[in-house]
Amino acid sequence: MQIERIHRIVIAGAGVMGGSMALLFVRHGFEVTVYDISQEGLEQCKKRLEEEAGAYEITFTREKECFLQADFVIEAIVENMEVKHRFWREISAMVPEEAILTTNTSGLSISRIAEAVTLPERFCGMHWLNPPHICPLIEVIKGEKTGAGTAELVRRTGIRVGRVPVMLEKEVPGFLINRFQFAVLREAMSLVEAGVAGKEDIDRVFKYGLGLRYACLGPFEIADLGGLDTFYRIASYLFPDLCNATEVPSMLSEPAENGDYGVKTGKGFYEYPGDRAQQVIEKRDADFRKVADCLYADLI
Ligand SMILES: NC(=O)c1ccc[n+]([C@@H]2O[C@H](COP(=O)([O-])OP(=O)(O)OC[C@H]3O[C@@H](n4cnc5c(N)ncnc54)[C@H](O)[C@@H]3O)[C@@H](O)[C@H]2O)c1
Repeated sequence: MQIERIHRIVIAGAGVMGGSMALLFVRHGFEVTVYDISQEGLEQCKKRLEEEAGAYEITFTREKECFLQADFVIEAIVENMEVKHRFWREISAMVPEEAILTTNTSGLSISRIAEAVTLPERFCGMHWLNPPHICPLIEVIKGEKTGAGTAELVRRTGIRVGRVPVMLEKEVPGFLINRFQFAVLREAMSLVEAGVAGKEDIDRVFKYGLGLRYACLGPFEIADLGGLDTFYRIASYLFPDLCNATEVPSMLSEPAENGDYGVKTGKGFYEYPGDRAQQVIEKRDADFRKVADCLYADLI
């Protein structure tokens, strides 16, 4: 498949991620179909996109025939290996042989999902951040059988829709994003448990300090600007002191096991009574958009 010939995009899964991706591709001139097994899921997606999609035309369907003409498939269905296997076993046998096939799994093994894919060299991980039409980063993850040409086409397709792809030459659990995210969360929880600082102050460290820095620079750039002599000295005394726990601390396991999932249940690390949860979501989206408009205006 040549990059210029990729035009018909089929997105499987009309959920949080699929709808937002559809918006992005259609705005960039692609022919977009959203496929879902649930009519209700499709209707909700259509409703969510109504305002932003405007005059753009997106096809919504429950008919699998839409895959017969696909140039590029993005699977964003439920995060469950068995369901993904069933989906790919059927769909990869239907799509044209030269179609590029991707999964937006958050963390399931690309190589394991690929076990259900016919011609797995055309199958690749394409991990987007929520919401995909605002967050520019995409992780392109090669599974054991992913062809080099496939990964490159996925990377270039990401660029065509104004995203910033990064390439994982081999897969590791958590890919890149979640490894960093969970290294931070592990350290944050260990500091709270040790009584060093409260949750609110640790959240402030990111919102008013590290967040600004990381929105503009990566860790290697920050170290170069700080001076590797200084960073070396700090690393020498700090590394032995950083949290390296391999067990999930009770601070996370207890609420999670008790059904306190955070915003979606009204209680997690913090409490969200009444319409506080909705307010928090709306503020997050508005803040993300402001930052994205400032920093990524040339991409979006
Ligand atoms: N939500 C996030 O923040 C996020 C971020 C990155 C990656 N992901 C990944 O993206 C994928 C989708 O996540 P989401 O949050 O959009 O899920 P979601 O629950 O919002 O939507 C999933 C949709 O898939 C549909 N579906 C389920 N089985 C199907 C099948 N066999 N065929 C077609 N459609 C099917 C459901 O009806 C539903 O509409 C998951 O793999 C998830 O891990 C999610």
